Amino acid sequence: MKMKKGWNRLYDDLAWLWPIWEDVEEYRSESELFAKLINKYAKIKVRTLLDMGCGGGKNVFHLKRHFAVMGIDRSRAMLSNAKKQNPDCDFHLGDMRKFDLKRQFDSVFINDAITYMTTKKDLLMVFNTAHKHLRPGGVMITYPDECKEKFEQNETNIWTSEADDMNITFIENQYDPNPKDDTFETTFIYLIRKNGKLRIEHDFHLCGLFTMNTWKKSLKQAGFEVHQEEGDEDTGGLPVFACTRPIPNR
Ligand SMILES: C[S@@+](CC[C@H](N)C(=O)[O-])C[C@H]1O[C@@H](n2cnc3c(N)ncnc32)[C@H](O)[C@@H]1O
Repeated sequence: MKMKKGWNRLYDDLAWLWPIWEDVEEYRSESELFAKLINKYAKIKVRTLLDMGCGGGKNVFHLKRHFAVMGIDRSRAMLSNAKKQNPDCDFHLGDMRKFDLKRQFDSVFINDAITYMTTKKDLLMVFNTAHKHLRPGGVMITYPDECKEKFEQNETNIWTSEADDMNITFIENQYDPNPKDDTFETTFIYLIRKNGKLRIEHDFHLCGLFTMNTWKKSLKQAGFEVHQEEGDEDTGGLPVFACTRPIPNR
């Protein structure tokens, strides 16, 4: 089967699957951890937060209890999911490597969307964009979904979700065909059963894979002070970076 690189149907014609993928409640405990870290490291009062790559707005749903949240994403279909989930928040279409909202926020949050940065240059561009949108004294939170040190070849996850008259089985497989480069592949198969009828769809995502050292170096290069916090099962055991933008000396 031939598949287009970086196809990402989950954020395009199959974006309707996103609300069914996992219940929004699954995003509560990680969002609470991120809000706690923002308040721990901030040197200013944090009232606003920008979610870069906000997807369907499941993190936004929990973070908005703490901050006034705005989201940006490059997928119109995912932004429409986000707006349905959070009619009270503002969302913008944009590429997290280069958008410019011409304003700053007290905190910035970058979650799983950063997985789609497949070169060191793109990773740095995202951190530069985050730095530009962060007020001095504010905090940017991010963490890797995967890293070179911990990547598990051929890891496969299968789960089933129900919605109305539908029952969907999600199959997710990660594979790195060339451990020498900075990418790996995630292949999805969706078994969609509606009123007993089966429809099978597949999807292919090209993702970035870097060392923890590359992450830390890029964050520092973008101008952040980097604090590494221990992750938990929500972050796949990988550390969380709480990055502050220093307040310039007067
Ligand atoms: C797994 S989803 C995020 C889900 C989100 N955390 C939530 O709470 O629903 C990943 C998102 O990254 C977005 N994305 C990928 N590359 C991007 C880029 N260069 N700029 C902006 N968004 C991007 C995709 O459009 C997708 O919506």
